[in-house]
Amino acid sequence: MLEGTNQPSEECPSKLDPCPRGGRVGGVERRLGSSTFLSGDGLSSVSRGDSPGVWKGSIVDKEALEGKVILVTGAARSLGASMAAYFESVGGTAIRTDINPAQGVVELDVTKIGQWESVVADVIREHGHLDGLVNNAAAFFGARPFWAETDAEFARLLDVNVMGTWLGIKVAARAMAPKWRGSIVNFSSTSGMMGSDLGFAGYGTTRWAVRGLTKHSAADLAAQGVRVNSIHPHGIVGTGMMPVPRNRDDEAARDAANPMGRTGMTDDVSSMVTFLLSDRSTWITGREFVIDGGATLTCAL
Ligand SMILES: NC(=O)c1ccc[n+]([C@@H]2O[C@H](COP(=O)([O-])OP(=O)(O)OC[C@H]3O[C@@H](n4cnc5c(N)ncnc54)[C@H](O)[C@@H]3O)[C@@H](O)[C@H]2O)c1
Repeated sequence: MLEGTNQPSEECPSKLDPCPRGGRVGGVERRLGSSTFLSGDGLSSVSRGDSPGVWKGSIVDKEALEGKVILVTGAARSLGASMAAYFESVGGTAIRTDINPAQGVVELDVTKIGQWESVVADVIREHGHLDGLVNNAAAFFGARPFWAETDAEFARLLDVNVMGTWLGIKVAARAMAPKWRGSIVNFSSTSGMMGSDLGFAGYGTTRWAVRGLTKHSAADLAAQGVRVNSIHPHGIVGTGMMPVPRNRDDEAARDAANPMGRTGMTDDVSSMVTFLLSDRSTWITGREFVIDGGATLTCAL
């Protein structure tokens, strides 16, 4: 390997955890699943309970989305449903949409342009403006190597995760541009920031595409006052992709696998998305925000 080129990193072997920790780092022994660091780093014997980073809930000011109307896709369950409730708790009006019917949820299959147009027209008729769109809906058929994914599954992943996001940006931006305001948040993933052999070839490809779409559409829409950013969560517990652990041992193992000593919660995502939708971020566009407690920090993203 030539000097100055990227070295293959011991920090990024592939199985299980995207960037497993442990082993020797800069001459210092680190233990996976422990917040106790061995001598030499000046942090010895800090227990998780004493850590200043221990989670106490996310804090966002209570008026962050006051007066804003936010359309959320895939909001019948999981992250989408949690975010919608969170937006309302900080003053916003959430329009919950999903392909699957549920109480208080408007039908919207993100792959259908006609449905997008009619839902957004209804929002403008009823509220007079659309301030935010959260492109959260996604398909995922489970982790498997790319040769095990069928062509039909891959086509569906592209349709829902990429085309659905593309259509959403187009239709929402048309409604936002005349008022010269609007914020669109696209869901990607840490699997849209890196490669891995965790079985995310099809799904991960769509998350990379969303990241690219975010940057290009942000550039095109900046002059219209519409911002577009992407977020990249990792392992958020209590969602379709990461169910609640079956027992305390599983829970402890998951927590221990994260550098910050806990698994991500839906509020960790909601608070960042709220910031991006709010007027606290009016000069931020085309950027990507990783929400993972440092899980992929030692991988070259
Ligand atoms: N959960 C995680 O740990 C995690 C990690 C990284 C990224 N993400 C991203 O976060 C988002 C939400 O993840 P989740 O775990 O809550 O997913 P989930 O599978 O639990 O929920 C997805 C929702 O999207 C809806 N949906 C599916 N196809 C649709 C379509 N064609 N039109 C409209 N709605 C449709 C589903 O009905 C469901 O309500 C996704 O974009 C996912 O890629 C999640």
